[in-house]
Formats: sequence, C-alpha cells, structure tokens
Amino acid sequence: MRLITPEHPLIDHKLTVLRNRDTPQPVFRQLVEELMTLLAYEATRDIAVEPVQVETPVATTVGTRLKAPLPLVVPILRAGLGMLEGMTKLLPTAEVGFLGMVRDEQTLQPTTYAKRLPDDLSDRACYVLDPMLATGGSIIGAIDYLFEQGAKSVTAISILAAPQGLQAVTDHFADRDVTVVVGSVDEGLNEKSYIVPGLGDAGDRLYGTVD
Ligand code: PRP
Ligand code: URA
Repeated sequence: MRLITPEHPLIDHKLTVLRNRDTPQPVFRQLVEELMTLLAYEATRDIAVEPVQVETPVATTVGTRLKAPLPLVVPILRAGLGMLEGMTKLLPTAEVGFLGMVRDEQTLQPTTYAKRLPDDLSDRACYVLDPMLATGGSIIGAIDYLFEQGAKSVTAISILAAPQGLQAVTDHFADRDVTVVVGSVDEGLNEKSYIVPGLGDAGDRLYGTVD
C-alpha cells in the first residue's frame, strides 16, 4: 500500500475549519468538496493517459487524453457522497458507481446495504471516496469488492485517517496495487473508534443525524 499525504497550507487551513464543531453544515459541505478537489489533484497524478493529436488555431501538436477504459469513481454512502462533486470537477468524464456501507457502532463491522456499479471492472482504475478512514473496515470492504469485480488498481481518498486504520489497510493489501491519499493522519481512535482529534461524525455533519 502506498500512502500519500499531500502537504499544502490550503489543505491545513480548510481542515482546521472543517474540524471546528461550530462550523455550520453548508460551510462543512463546501469544505469537504474543496478538500476533495485538492486531494484529487495528487490522487490522479499517475492516471493513465495516451498521446493524441490536436489542431490548435495555429498548428498541429500532440497532447494527452485519458486512456480507456475510463476511471471509475466510487463514493461510499453516505459521507463519501459529499466528496463526489469535488472529484468529478477534476475528472468530469469519469463514470460513477455507488456503494452504501454502514459501520455497526458496537461491533465496528461494516455492512454493505447498496451496490450500484458496473459488473466488470477489468483493467479499470478505481477511486474510492470516503472522508473517514477510522478502523479501516469500511474502506477495506469496499476495496476488496472492487478487486473481486476485476479492478486493476484502487486509490482510496479520505480527508482524515487514523494510524490504526492505515496499518489495517497496509496489512490487508500487502500484495495489491492500493494507494491511499489522505489530508491528515490524525493521532488515533477514541473508545468509540472515532478519529481523534477528527471532526466527529462526517455523515451527520454533512447530512444530519439518522437516529
Ligand atoms: C463512517 C465513515 C466511514 C466509516 C469509517 O460511515 O464515513 O464509512 O464510518 O469507519 P471505519 O474506518 O471504522 O470503517 P458510517 O458508517 O458512520 O456511515 P454514514 O456515512 O452513513 O454516516
Ligand atoms: N466515522 C466518522 O464519521 N467519524 C469518525 O471519526 C469515525 C468513523
């Protein structure tokens, strides 16, 4: 597993506002989207491209275009949905698949309640979006599924991660092409396996409480 933590003062600034418990929901949503775009810039650095001829008003030259098959972006519902717009701003031609997952707050095991993505992911670069990588269970479950469907490489993008979760991803995908891009590696997890200092419950802060 390859870990990328892009260093940028704007990421730090936006993260600080995001962490603040008093940041209102509309600002929180906007910041998740903006942070996603900043992280996407690094996450797509190795995206597959091919040369293409282009006619400018002045001359013919050779440029670059994304190579087929097009990448697949997979937000993990709910909270990953808040990152989708920030990703597709940078990759407007990417296709989008959806995985609905929820972590049981007692056992910490993730359950998948929705799957809507292409059957065959052979040779496709996949980008999994989930703002929180806490124990790592949800992201590991999502990446496992994409590999089962034939994905060739998977990049997971999270706003915050805990060291324990990153270690779990490293151990689980020792022999696979997995990259994790995170805005910050935080101190750890609390007794409820929330990221510390973290930002609280990302889904609730984006969309409100469900129960
Ligand atoms: C949160 C978060 C991740 C998961 C992280 O989702 O968005 O998917 O928990 O925890 P883990 O790394 O320990 O698996 P949650 O289950 O709260 O669902 P939600 O997005 O619908 O709020
Ligand atoms: N899920 C969240 O939304 N936040 C955490 O800190 C951990 C899991």
